[in-house]
Amino acid sequence: MRVFSGIQPTGKLHIGNYLGAIKQWIELQEKNECVFCIVDLHALTVPYDPKTLQELILEKVIVYLASGINPEKSIIFVQSSVKEHSELAWLLNTITPLGDLARMTQYKEKSKKFEKNLNAGLLNYPILMAADILLYQTDLVPVGEDQKQHVELARTIARKFNQKFGEVFKIPEVRLPKAGARIMSLQNPAKKMSKTDGPESYIGLFDEPEEIRTKIMRAVTDTGKIVKYNEKLKPGIANLITIYSLFSGKSIKEIERKFKGKGYAEFKKSLAELLVDSLESFRRKKKELLTREVYVKEILSQGTKRAQVIAQSTMQEVRKKMGLLPH
Ligand code: AMP
Ligand code: TRP
Repeated sequence: MRVFSGIQPTGKLHIGNYLGAIKQWIELQEKNECVFCIVDLHALTVPYDPKTLQELILEKVIVYLASGINPEKSIIFVQSSVKEHSELAWLLNTITPLGDLARMTQYKEKSKKFEKNLNAGLLNYPILMAADILLYQTDLVPVGEDQKQHVELARTIARKFNQKFGEVFKIPEVRLPKAGARIMSLQNPAKKMSKTDGPESYIGLFDEPEEIRTKIMRAVTDTGKIVKYNEKLKPGIANLITIYSLFSGKSIKEIERKFKGKGYAEFKKSLAELLVDSLESFRRKKKELLTREVYVKEILSQGTKRAQVIAQSTMQEVRKKMGLLPH
């Protein structure tokens, strides 16, 4: 099966991105043909600094590699280096109803946040995402819960194109992790963990041990003392138990048993040490890769070439079906 997914080169990656998306990617790459993209064009839809963007893009390649994506198996590349993404996005614009875009949850949230500076890219964002996915004749799109709606829209757009112009696109399936599809903020368990909130609300994949300990000890928990999973009544502790379970491989029941009769503080201390240990290899690999820029750039250049072959072949079909002249 062909797998496609992407992450924007904005901000720091956190354990929500890892548990929601990247951890699935690592599992999937063993048996599938995977394409992992750094979606720089998507990142331009919100305020950013052109001076630091290149650096952030290269850092994300390092993140992919440090978290276990194998460039010998999977394709790693940057969205804007394969121009077919923008080209297909434009063509798909012409068959996507405005109403479908305006009802997207992410658009509604972001358009409120950027009310004073609302650009068309923010509305059209899911069309570019559909182009990313459909260009590669993707079977599976592993993402966190917040992106599910966008993948569903990509399916609708693909079906519409196929009906209107003839079969070109595969209809992709979304794949959410069984647990961890929505890791919550450490400071507000009613909100998802997000890189755009303050650093105290998330654990970065490359946070130093001291930062991890401080953030976990300060994480908002609920009144009470018992380490028991209850999403409704104790969302703070439930979120921390989920994180514990996913990093340790222990079930929720086992964790509750392990901390029976012990308070929140002891549980948090243990969780902090678990995270310090689990993230150690990320920190180490990142440090090593930071000194190997030539190698990192070479991986991108190979990935771009492999991605282009697939993208160009789909685009040829699209042009033909839409009545455009071939290139
Ligand atoms: P983004 O950071 O928005 O580029 O998201 C990258 C990937 O991480 C997407 O697949 C998201 O669905 C996933 N993701 C982001 N935040 C979370 C979260 N708090 N919990 C689980 N998955 C997440
Ligand atoms: N919109 C996704 C996010 O913010 C990133 C993304 C862009 C993506 N194109 C994609 C994810 C294609 C999966 C497939 O997380």
